[in-house]
Amino acid sequence: MGNYTQAQIEQMQKDDMQYHLHPTTVITDMEAWGGPRIIEEGSGIRIKSVEGKTYIDCGAGLWLNNVGMGRTELAEVAKEQMEKLCYFQSFNGFSHPNVIDLAKKVSSMVPIDNARIFFTSGGSESNDTAYKLARVYWYLKGKQTKNNIIGRTRAYHGVSYGALSATSLPGFWDGFGPLVPNFHHIPHPHCYFCPWGKEKGSCGLECAEALEQKILEVGADNVAAFTAEPVIGTGGAIVPPEGYYQRIREICTKHEVLFIADEVICGFGRTGKMFGIENWGVQPDIMMMAKGITSGYFPVGGVALSAEIYAPIKKHGVFMHGYTYSAHPVGCAVALKNIEILERENLVEKSRTMGEVLREQVRALNLPIIGEVRGIGLINAVQLVKDPEKREKFDAGLAFGKKVAHKAWEKGLALRPLIDDALQLSPALIITEADIDELVGKLGEAIAETYAEIGRS
Ligand SMILES: Cc1ncc(COP(=O)(O)O)c(C=O)c1O
Repeated sequence: MGNYTQAQIEQMQKDDMQYHLHPTTVITDMEAWGGPRIIEEGSGIRIKSVEGKTYIDCGAGLWLNNVGMGRTELAEVAKEQMEKLCYFQSFNGFSHPNVIDLAKKVSSMVPIDNARIFFTSGGSESNDTAYKLARVYWYLKGKQTKNNIIGRTRAYHGVSYGALSATSLPGFWDGFGPLVPNFHHIPHPHCYFCPWGKEKGSCGLECAEALEQKILEVGADNVAAFTAEPVIGTGGAIVPPEGYYQRIREICTKHEVLFIADEVICGFGRTGKMFGIENWGVQPDIMMMAKGITSGYFPVGGVALSAEIYAPIKKHGVFMHGYTYSAHPVGCAVALKNIEILERENLVEKSRTMGEVLREQVRALNLPIIGEVRGIGLINAVQLVKDPEKREKFDAGLAFGKKVAHKAWEKGLALRPLIDDALQLSPALIITEADIDELVGKLGEAIAETYAEIGRS
């Protein structure tokens, strides 16, 4: 039982549909359900709707709730900090104890030597900040033409104009142009649907070589940076082949192009390492983070930059960029406590081991339309296909993944379909084997029943 009557719930849904413009929501779908699904509570890996029904959150919110929901100690530090100092600016040479501790802590964690941290309130702001840092770095070094940024197809970097210009996913650009000039995209690495028709292990890493070709095409003197999510998230939980990032780093260094890692999803344990790029032992020049830094308990983001990037800015005297909520005292307090929990409970290692259990169990479902179960740590996707032999996708009009997600919801799973009928499996890092049994059992039923109903049509 929930805390609301049916009449109250219907009224809330009506009001939501009348007054609320939802981000990235197909309005007709929501209306067809009778209104939004209203979530009232969260505990551990589960959420509860206003009807009183409990669901496993297969996506940890938007890939962010790493330590699980309902952590009293995070609420307590937020309350304490709000009472002590709810806000003060970090512009104009001001600071406060929590941001100093957090910057020092994050600097000691990132795979960048002597890193310095700039704070934001989320991923898009972190991305815009990173591109501005890259451009201003070359500008201050007297190389004003080095201002082009190369990203990848299937990338999601956010929706502010800089981040949107680096993003490359269907729908996100429609009607919003013109975008920021001098952003380019190379094909993303995707071994299952390889754009070059090659097989993992026997290819020439064409996906990495594409970066060198693009740099030569644009001219190395015109390229500021290459940016990538170490593991593509929203674009389908896509892990690059072995050797990819090592080759990317070589190409960037050779052509004096900065390597910017977008760790907004991967950072803080999601891939089974503290940061995604550590899976390949490669050092970026700049890194963006957000989401897992507070597990979503407070909106905080950040950018780590190397001493090399900082040097010309220091000489210039000012980084003329900042957000009102940069280094928010409450956000910094929550981030520090969240990182303490991640470390204390060994959640990064749990992410690695539970990810393996999860993928094994989904594979063991042995369903004829599961083409691939991919991922690393707890950033995973189940790729549904019409014909695994030929790696043939379902007709887009069938919206197969969306239908599976709808059925999964009826069974108690909050499951998100990604592009091309891939299903997102990225629960909180505290997930247990018993939770995985329940999740995979319901997932298997949802896929099999949807296939029985419409798959063969
Ligand atoms: C890799 C990546 N970068 C950036 C963003 C944008 O973050 P935000 O929505 O906090 O602006 C996201 C959001 O999902 C993301 O996945």
